[in-house]
Amino acid sequence: MLVPLQQVWRMSSGNGTRRKVGKLQHFNNMMASAPETLTEVQGLFSKVRTYVKPSNGEWSIPDPNVALRHQGEEHCRLQALKVSLNAVKNQLSDKNVQVWHQHTNFTNRAGKVIATVRSAANAEVCTQAWCKFYEILGTFNPLPGEALQSGELNTVHLCEAPGAFITALNHYIKTSESTRYCDWSWAANTLNPYHEANGGSTTIADDRLIANTLPWWFFGSDNTGNIMIQKHLLELQVFVSNMRRVDMVTADGSFDCQENPDEQEALVASLHYCEATAALLLLSPGGSFVLKMFTLYEHSSVCLLYLLNCCFHSVNVFKPATSKAGNSEVYVVCLNYDGKEAVRPLLSKLIRNYGPHLADREALFPNAIIPESFLKQHEEVCSYFHRLQVDTITENLRLFEGMSTEQRQRFDHIRDCVAHDYLQRFEVSFLPRSRWISRNTVSPACCSVSAGRPLGQKKQTGSFNERRELQTLSWREAREGLLCHLDTETLHGRWDRLLAGRPLSNVRGSW
Ligand SMILES: C[S@@+](CC[C@H](N)C(=O)[O-])C[C@H]1O[C@@H](n2cnc3c(N)ncnc32)[C@H](O)[C@@H]1O
Repeated sequence: MLVPLQQVWRMSSGNGTRRKVGKLQHFNNMMASAPETLTEVQGLFSKVRTYVKPSNGEWSIPDPNVALRHQGEEHCRLQALKVSLNAVKNQLSDKNVQVWHQHTNFTNRAGKVIATVRSAANAEVCTQAWCKFYEILGTFNPLPGEALQSGELNTVHLCEAPGAFITALNHYIKTSESTRYCDWSWAANTLNPYHEANGGSTTIADDRLIANTLPWWFFGSDNTGNIMIQKHLLELQVFVSNMRRVDMVTADGSFDCQENPDEQEALVASLHYCEATAALLLLSPGGSFVLKMFTLYEHSSVCLLYLLNCCFHSVNVFKPATSKAGNSEVYVVCLNYDGKEAVRPLLSKLIRNYGPHLADREALFPNAIIPESFLKQHEEVCSYFHRLQVDTITENLRLFEGMSTEQRQRFDHIRDCVAHDYLQRFEVSFLPRSRWISRNTVSPACCSVSAGRPLGQKKQTGSFNERRELQTLSWREAREGLLCHLDTETLHGRWDRLLAGRPLSNVRGSW
């Protein structure tokens, strides 16, 4: 765990900070003297559960004739977890969202990672997503060995604005010995931030990468970029057909569910089905798939996780240290795809039913098809992440009542330890700007870059209960209430969006 001084020096030599070495030496000494700190830090980086397939081949791709034909039934033990988690989350309903975020930012053990990576590694579009994906790369090594040996790597990134997974992957490839000379091609999809059909709350304002790499982005023939449109799926396949093989697909899709947080999982289910269908269609044998999901309690998630387990050699559910511990977000990391051949009949059915309601009507599989041995493991996975999240929220609620000076100092210390451990653990090293993806970056003044909040989206204010109350007011009353809450940055964001609101034609294809 404690890194030799030479390695620390190698890592920080990029920006030539001798001073940092001394600081890290000091940090190592502190770590050595506090084993409980070491355990706590290590625990943050080990939040993962892996499904173990029975050797008798019991987990096999279901017959397409039973798929999407029956109503799904809820799983009572999983629903009990949902009720209990929502009861804990409901205790936050009277908290002012800004004050609460300030509090949880302070108690977030990984809260200093972004700033540390930004200054030590010169990372491009260095956001929380960057740090999460770098952690996934460093933990699972999802780039298939076969691709690396051939010297060619092709990746597709769904729901990807503003593009930090891509810049993190670029950083990883350019700074790792085994991938440095790899010939890497990528393509990405996302809701088109310049298309007026995409409301302010659905797109991301930060277009630093997109504006510089437009030909690599796929927005489909209607230019919206919506991955849930059936023809877009087939067009995307054509868009990436110049890739000899597709080695990794990432899908980080989500949208704002803050007005109905109890049903977040059900609201995003169809998006997740579409992302998974796209991955199964695009990936080559041996490929990897990284899918962002939330809680996994609904029947739709049980079916999806089962399907992924039937199609990949290894399926892991991972909560990165750099994902805020109080939220439900997890990453499903699937390694070594069996290939389309095995899943083709079911995939055809998924494609025929593809769309924004794919997970809303009939269940993907009837309950009777899902083996008990899978359900048992799945329940264990859900209980594990349930406990982690409930513990975090409960701790945050307790600390919200007040923190002693010692407690504050300890948090500060842990946050430093986690940030430095992150750099060491994932060997994050300096990348000169000349090796960034957008080397000739336009000056920020030319891009509509803002704080990474969706374009034009109002900053959440007040408590959940207060926002609910606001919704029941008349339109005029509500508008007045909202206008007083709008900050200058949000107003500027809306103005930027109006200025940038011209639909762009897709440069890459003739859709
Ligand atoms: C959490 S962000 C992705 C962050 C990204 N991975 C990164 O590293 O910067 C989620 C993205 O999903 C996009 N999205 C949501 N629904 C979508 C849809 N139906 N089709 C395409 N993109 C979608 C949103 O516009 C947003 O850009």
